[in-house]
Amino acid sequence: RDNIEDILESTLFSRDDIHEMCVRLGKQLTEDYAGKEPVLVGALTGAIFFMTDLAREMDVRCKMDFIDVSSYGNGTESSGKVKLVKDVTTDVKGKDILIIEDIVDTGHTLKFMKEHFISLGAKSVKCVALLNKPSRRVDNVSVDYYGSEVENQFVVGYGLDFYNMFRNIPYIGVVKPEVIQAYANK
Ligand code: PRP
Ligand code: MN
Ligand code: MG
Repeated sequence: RDNIEDILESTLFSRDDIHEMCVRLGKQLTEDYAGKEPVLVGALTGAIFFMTDLAREMDVRCKMDFIDVSSYGNGTESSGKVKLVKDVTTDVKGKDILIIEDIVDTGHTLKFMKEHFISLGAKSVKCVALLNKPSRRVDNVSVDYYGSEVENQFVVGYGLDFYNMFRNIPYIGVVKPEVIQAYANK
């Protein structure tokens, strides 16, 4: 088992902090989607834990589906080119779509997904993200709901990954710079 203290320099959001954000967002979304039947679309893979916790704080009749998109570039920096790996299977025409994300960084992924659902004839397309990193934004896309803003630091856990690892840490921490450096040199 990895020793978490060797990887993380600090805890940014505890399990309680995350739970509070889910409760607050769930209440807001319950109000805003009252009388509607939204399709909750989780963005694989980062959004999985947030989606399951948030959905259980929403007292709304809804459908649940997943989309998988990947952005490819030179490894560390996103190129802005996003490709659809797996689409939703629900018919989204005329539906209220709520995209669920763990984090919005440059905005490339979210902009692509929003445009995708609009082109499929969705009635409305909004996004709820657990974390928002506005300092990194390149695309002008609105994050309609979010739990917290974060600084430009490397965060992992609760779905957020480091080379597809550490998603299952049950809270959110900041990766040590020397760990990032060590992997970058591999
Ligand atoms: C991460 C994150 C968001 C996206 C945000 O996903 O989960 O989906 O990047 O970055 P952006 O705003 O710059 O587009 P990633 O592509 O790493 O896939 P993952 O969810 O499987 O980790
Ligand atoms: Mn993602
Ligand atoms: Mg990732």
